[in-house]
Amino acid sequence: MADLRAKYEEAGQSHVFTFWDELSESQKSDFEKQLRAIDPVRLNATVKQALEADEAAREARDVKIEPPPASSFVSTVGKEGETEKYRQMGLRAIVNGEVGVLLMAGGQGTRLGSSAPKGCFNIQLPSGKSLFQLQAERIHQLQVLGTRTSGEEKVVVPWYIMTSGPTHEPTETFFREHNFFGLDPSNVVFFEQGTLPCISNDGKILLDDKGKIATAPDGNGGLYAALRSPTSPGQPSVLDDLQKRGIKYLHAYGVDNCLVKVGDPAFIGVCLEKEVAAGVKVVKKTDPAESVGVVACKDGKFSVVEYSEIPQHLSEARDENGELMMRAANIANHFYTTDFLLNKVPTFAEKMAYHIARKKIPSVDLTTGQRVKPETPNGIKLELFIFDVFPFCSELTIYEVERKEEFSPLKNASGTASDNPETSRRDLLAQHRRWLEKARAIVAPDADVELSPKVTYGGEGLADVQGLSFTKTENIESL
Ligand code: UD1
Repeated sequence: MADLRAKYEEAGQSHVFTFWDELSESQKSDFEKQLRAIDPVRLNATVKQALEADEAAREARDVKIEPPPASSFVSTVGKEGETEKYRQMGLRAIVNGEVGVLLMAGGQGTRLGSSAPKGCFNIQLPSGKSLFQLQAERIHQLQVLGTRTSGEEKVVVPWYIMTSGPTHEPTETFFREHNFFGLDPSNVVFFEQGTLPCISNDGKILLDDKGKIATAPDGNGGLYAALRSPTSPGQPSVLDDLQKRGIKYLHAYGVDNCLVKVGDPAFIGVCLEKEVAAGVKVVKKTDPAESVGVVACKDGKFSVVEYSEIPQHLSEARDENGELMMRAANIANHFYTTDFLLNKVPTFAEKMAYHIARKKIPSVDLTTGQRVKPETPNGIKLELFIFDVFPFCSELTIYEVERKEEFSPLKNASGTASDNPETSRRDLLAQHRRWLEKARAIVAPDADVELSPKVTYGGEGLADVQGLSFTKTENIESL
């Protein structure tokens, strides 16, 4: 133990041993494991870097935030022919077994008022399907479309699911209980993002218990480190798996958007044509108050300015056409080449500064030994964001898609004003009505007709519904 104590002493963090003598042997052993997994000197440096970046961001009133250059945008809104061209390109990569999808499922549905992983949420569709099930079935259908195109081989699109401490076990259990929604479990790879200690306002590691450090998930940008770690002890990392399978392109996306086009061939195709290492999907922001980040250029570098940090005058500024200047709303859909993740990210990973979230963190009072739930923020959590790699990208493709087809996030609890289970259900069913009507079916005004992703991935293959009448609310599993 002497070496461990010395390490924490050197870092000015020896208070973590305050209650050591009160712990049982098994508590000591668990605590030791946790302490050994942390490098306190490195942690101090990370905190310092994060605090400095936070301070600089606050003071840097002269940081130039502008819309990204027009040359980085591709829009296929209202251009079906263009979309189809890109879709075919992406589908070819899928047929070649070069595309994987990556779900960020480490966040907790705190704003949603649920303690279960967000993907388990049932938005009350006629089918009762969860968000996870909708995504799984879209992957299934993508594999079917790929296999049909290939004409011979069975096409596989592997699904990498990033969880966090709080969501890992319940997510895996949910998948097992639902038989992986019909997918082959060997093509579904779970991996856990890391955690970081929570730090007091004066830079000290907080104790969650007398023998336990308070920790929090390291943000969805924790992805980059997690991709390199074994998915479980003794197992290969996700990056190893990508290489073994020959996956060259990855679509990473957030869990809470019921309209997400998982593995979207058109997005893959756009990024292939532009030959970029990274891409991001956006929709047009029209309400300055909407809780979305916007893709921007900060001092000439690509970035996302989050809704919590954009100055009001900037989010409200309009151009000569009356549109919001900063209108490229980030919908948490990202494209990466495996080469970028494997070879480029390590060249700048150390330079990405963590973001600071000031929170009320329950922790043990070192003088009384009591666990206290603070009334005001008493410390910080450190997080990286998935788009923190953007400033290091010399090129980025920003692919604009139509909001009503691709973005309806589930953020808030039922009965709130926006982005809630009701709006998710409404937007998905409205999309399916549009698809049916386009295929010349007749849908009664009060019928909510849901189309299984196993029937159609994105509105294709609906010729058989022509002339059919749908008069009641129902879920269509096959045609
Ligand atoms: C996110 C985007 C925001 C975008 C919005 C669109 C980030 C940092 N911000 O905001 O720019 O406009 O989505 O809906 O991406 N997650 C993890 N691990 C974590 C934290 C989050 O995997 O530690 C996952 C969540 O499960 C979710 C995704 O990352 O799938 C986004 O996280 P969320 O907290 O929903 O981000 P928002 O604030 O809504």
